[in-house]
Order: sequence, then C-alpha cells, then structure tokens
Amino acid sequence: MSKIVVASDNKGKLREIAQIFKGYEILSMREAGFSGEIEETGKTFEENAVLKARAVSEALHCTALADDSGLCVEALGGAPGVYSARFCGRHGDDKANNALLLEKLRSVPDGERAAYFESCVAVCTQGGKVITATGRTHGRILKEEQGEGGFGYDPLFYSDELGKSFGLASAEEKNGVSHRAKALAALSRKIKGISL
Ligand code: IMP
Repeated sequence: MSKIVVASDNKGKLREIAQIFKGYEILSMREAGFSGEIEETGKTFEENAVLKARAVSEALHCTALADDSGLCVEALGGAPGVYSARFCGRHGDDKANNALLLEKLRSVPDGERAAYFESCVAVCTQGGKVITATGRTHGRILKEEQGEGGFGYDPLFYSDELGKSFGLASAEEKNGVSHRAKALAALSRKIKGISL
C-alpha cells in the first residue's frame, strides 16, 4: 500500500483525508518523524500547500500531502484569504478573528456579503513531482454567529449549499459540501494511476 505523509497533525483533517484516500496508508507528519516548523510564506493557498508538502517530502524522502485554506470575502477584496488564521494579528484566535470580520462588514448590506471558503491540496511525490487541486464552497457572511459547531469562521458562514450556517451543520453535512472535501476528492481523482 502506498504511504502518504500528511503535513499536519490535525486529527479531524487526518480522518477526512483517510476517508477519501482509501487504499493509501495515511500518516501524520509527527508519526512519520517530522519535527520541524514550516513557515507559510506563500501569497496564495496553492503556494502554501506546495511549500508544506515539499518541505515534508524532502525532509523524510516520502510522498507528502498538505492543504492550505481560508475564507475569501468579496466586499473585502478577497480578505482575509491566506491570512485567515491570523486576521486579528494573533494566530488561531477564532473569537477575535470573527469579531474583526463582523466589525469590518458592519455597514455592508445583506446582498453584498458574499464569501467562499477555498482549499488547495498538494501532493509532492518522493521524486519531487507536484500535483495540486482546489475546492470552493460558496455562501455569505451572517450579521451574527449562528450555531457552535465546526471551527474558525463556521458560525458566521451561511452555506448556500446547505441552506444554513456551518456552525449549525453536523460534521457529516459540512464534509459533504466543504471546500476541503471537494479539493481532496479532485486530488484523489488526479493521482489515481500515478505511482507515488
Ligand atoms: P488551515 O488551512 O486549516 O490552517 O486554515 C486556515 C484558517 O482558515 C483557519 O484557521 C480558519 O480561520 C480558516 N478556515 C479554513 N477552513 C475553514 C473551515 O472549514 N471553517 C472555518 N474556518 C476555516
């Protein structure tokens, strides 16, 4: 069975990847022995996904998979984008990120609050070949949080596909339409038949 090392230690992400990449052995980077930090210096989701996959692939001489994702809000010219995790200036402070998003959109009317989540996933093979795929899910930013499910911007994101906020959706419902699930499904189709 081909082995793929995922450039993440997030258990939820690893589970989602293992469900889509059946037939591959999926390991987290720590399980595989990678202990370095990877700085996300890219200007696009694709650049960040590729730099993370390449860093792990080169360090461990293996096939590695990485993803990078975020929220893009039309009225903010695509922000927070690659800065989604650190929109408020601190990495991973979901509460402050959500408060800042609401503040920036305070005077923006309902019809102009369109947004989408984007995920880019990249595989870098042991031989250095890079394959990428992108997924998006569309919706709009609510005027207040709805629900407590998910993480990050989920309670503020009304999903057009689900007809409710991601914060109110079950994990199964969200995984059925999410940007990451779409990107992973597209990537698994692309690498079928390629020797990793
Ligand atoms: P990462 O690519 O998993 O590091 O995600 C970057 C940031 O984008 C997260 O910290 C969240 O702020 C945001 N984000 C990405 N995907 C989602 C999602 O599915 N729901 C809510 N926020 C997300």
